[in-house]
Amino acid sequence: MTFSKLLAAFTAAALLSTVSADSVCPTILNPSYDYPIVGEGWTAQLIASGLTSPRRLLFDSNGSLLVVEAGKGIARLTLTDHGGTCLVVADKTTIVSNTDLNHGLALSTTPSILLASTADVVYGYAYNAASGTVVGSPKTLVEGTGSSGESADLATRSILLSQKQTLTLVVARGIDSDSDDLAAIDESAGLGVVRVFDLSSLYTTTSTSSVIPDNPFEFSTASSSVSTILGWGIRHAAGLAEHPVTGGIFSTENSVANATYNGVDVHMTNPGDELNYHGTLNSSVSVSSPGGSNYGYPRCFAVANATSLTGSSLSIGDQFSMTQNSTLNDTTCAADYTPPTLTFGIHSSPQDLLFSSDGTTAYVALHGSDGIESGYAVGSIAFDNTTGLPTSASSSSSADFLTNILSNKNISKCPGNCFRPVGLAWDAAGRLYVSSDTTGEIYVLSRSSSSASTGTLVTTTASVASPTATATAAAGNAANSQFQHSTAVLGVAVASIAMALLIVV
Ligand SMILES: *[C@@H]1O[C@H](CO)[C@@H](O)[C@H](O)[C@H]1NC(C)=O
Ligand SMILES: *[C@@H]1O[C@H](CO)[C@@H](O)[C@H](O)[C@H]1NC(C)=O
Ligand SMILES: *[C@@H]1O[C@H](CO)[C@@H](O)[C@H](O)[C@H]1NC(C)=O
Ligand SMILES: *[C@@H]1O[C@H](CO)[C@@H](O)[C@H](O)[C@H]1NC(C)=O
Ligand SMILES: *[C@@H]1O[C@H](CO)[C@@H](O)[C@H](O)[C@H]1NC(C)=O
Ligand SMILES: *[C@@H]1O[C@H](CO)[C@@H](O)[C@H](O)[C@H]1NC(C)=O
Ligand SMILES: *[C@@H]1O[C@H](CO)[C@@H](O)[C@H](O)[C@H]1NC(C)=O
Ligand SMILES: *[C@@H]1O[C@H](CO)[C@@H](O)[C@H](O)[C@H]1NC(C)=O
Repeated sequence: MTFSKLLAAFTAAALLSTVSADSVCPTILNPSYDYPIVGEGWTAQLIASGLTSPRRLLFDSNGSLLVVEAGKGIARLTLTDHGGTCLVVADKTTIVSNTDLNHGLALSTTPSILLASTADVVYGYAYNAASGTVVGSPKTLVEGTGSSGESADLATRSILLSQKQTLTLVVARGIDSDSDDLAAIDESAGLGVVRVFDLSSLYTTTSTSSVIPDNPFEFSTASSSVSTILGWGIRHAAGLAEHPVTGGIFSTENSVANATYNGVDVHMTNPGDELNYHGTLNSSVSVSSPGGSNYGYPRCFAVANATSLTGSSLSIGDQFSMTQNSTLNDTTCAADYTPPTLTFGIHSSPQDLLFSSDGTTAYVALHGSDGIESGYAVGSIAFDNTTGLPTSASSSSSADFLTNILSNKNISKCPGNCFRPVGLAWDAAGRLYVSSDTTGEIYVLSRSSSSASTGTLVTTTASVASPTATATAAAGNAANSQFQHSTAVLGVAVASIAMALLIVV
C-alpha cells in the first residue's frame, strides 16, 4: 500500500468516524434486566423509562406520543428525533388525570376526539393536537361495560376506531370473573362480547369544540340502529385491530388458565389464546360473516397441543370441550362455534395487535402469564393483503406462524425480571413503539437497512447483536458501522483503524 493510498484510507476512516460521532445518541438507556433479543432485520432501543404502567400507545397528528398510564391517566410525550432508533423524551405531560383509565386509547381526527376506557366507561375528550391538550370535560360515549373490582387482567376494555367507517367504535368487554363463566352463555348479558357502535349521533358538529351531548350508549342494550355484536363467547379480547386493506376486524382473546380434558388437568398445554376474525364492517351496524357469531367460551376452547388431549382426534386450532356428553362435546364445538383464525401459545396473553400499512404483517404484543413460561415477546405474523387473512393455516403452531422481533432472553426470569409488552404504535416514519407495563418502559424498533442483518439492541456499553436461530452472532458484529450510535463501539472502531495503520506502516 502506497503512502497516498494509506492517507486516503485514513481520511475516509476519519470521515466515517466523524459522521458516526455526529450521530451519537445523546441519551441511551439500558434495560435493568437481561438485554432483550432483537429479531433479524431490526434495531431496537429503550427510549423511555419511569412511566406508570404504560399500556396503549398512539401518535397524534402533531407527532406526540400519547400513553395510557394505568391507574394514573394519559401522558403526552414529545420526542426529539435524532434519526434511527435515537429518540429522546423532551417533555412528558399528563394531559388527563384519571386513576380509572387502564388500557384503551383511540383517536378520531374529524372531529378531533381522544377516546379512552376504564372498566365501565368509554370517554371521549375533545383534543387539540396542536397544543396536545384536551378541552373541557370528557363525555361518556359508552357505559355499562363492567365494574371496578374485577381482576386487573379482566378489567381492561380494548377500543378501536375504524379507519373504514366514519366514527365507528369497536369495544370489547370480557367476563367479570372466571368463577362466573356461565354468565357469558347468554349474549344479552354483554359478557365476553365485542360490539360496534355508531358514534355519529353523539356529535352535533365535526368541529373540535363541538358540544357533545352526554347521552351514552349502554354497552349491552344499545339499539340495533346504532350498534351490533361483532362476536360473543370470547373470554377476554384484550386486543383489537382492523386490516388496513380489507377492513377485516380481528380480536386477540385471552383464554382460561385452568383447563381440564375429560377429568385430566391439561392447563400446562391447553388451551391456546386466540386470534379471532370478525368479518368486515359494512357499516356501523352491519358486519360480514363470521361477524356476530359465537366463538366458544365458556363451552369450547382452542387446541394448542393436541397430543395432551388424550383420546381426541383434534388438531391445533380445533376447539375442544372440557367434558363430553350427548349435547356438548368436541363434535358440537366444531359444529356450533366459530374457531380461531390462529391459536397462540397457552396464556401468552396477547394485549395488542397492529397491522403494517400494506397489510402483509400483523404485530402482536404477548404480555405473558404469571407462573407459566409463555409469551413475553413481540411477534410478527404474515398476512395475505388480498384476502386480509394470515398466510399460515389455522392448524399451524405458534412456533411456526410467529416470528419474535423483541423477546426476553430467558423467560424463566419472567414475570419479575423482564419486559412485558402491552401497547404497539407506529410513528409517521414507520418505526414501531412497544410499551412494557411492569417495567414502566417504551422501546422503539426500526427496520435495519438490510433485512438479513442481525438484530441489534442499542445500549451505552455496546450495540448488542442478538443471537439468531440459525447462526450465532459473531462477536465482531457489534462493531458494524451502522450500529455506531454508541461511543464505546466508536472507540473500538477508531482504535482498530489505528492498529491497522500501525501494522501496515
Ligand atoms: C407540533 O405543534 C407545534 C406547536 O404548534 C409545532 O411547532 C410543530 O411544528 C408541530 N409538529 C408537527 C410534527 O406537526
Ligand atoms: C377454573 O377456576 C374457576 C375460578 O376459580 C372455577 O370457578 C372453575 O370451576 C375452574 N374450572 C375448572 C375447569 O377447573
Ligand atoms: C352492505 O350494505 C349494503 C347496504 O345496506 C347491502 O346492500 C349489502 O348487502 C351489505 N353487504 C354486506 C356484506 O353485508
Ligand atoms: C404437548 O403435550 C405433550 C403431552 O403433554 C408433551 O409431551 C409435548 O411436549 C407437548 N408439545 C409441545 C410442543 O409443547
Ligand atoms: C356429541 O353431541 C352430538 C349432538 O348432540 C351427539 O349427536 C353425539 O352423539 C355426541 N357425541 C358424543 C361422543 O357424545
Ligand atoms: C352437557 O354438559 C353441559 C355443560 O356442562 C351441560 O350444560 C348439559 O346439560 C350437558 N348435557 C347433558 C345431556 O348432560
Ligand atoms: C400488498 O402488499 C404489497 C407488498 O408490500 C404492496 O406492494 C401492495 O401495495 C399491497 N396492497 C395494498 C392494496 O396495499
Ligand atoms: C434462566 O433463569 C433461571 C431463573 O433465574 C435460571 O435458573 C436459569 O439458569 C437461567 N437459564 C439460563 C440459560 O441462563
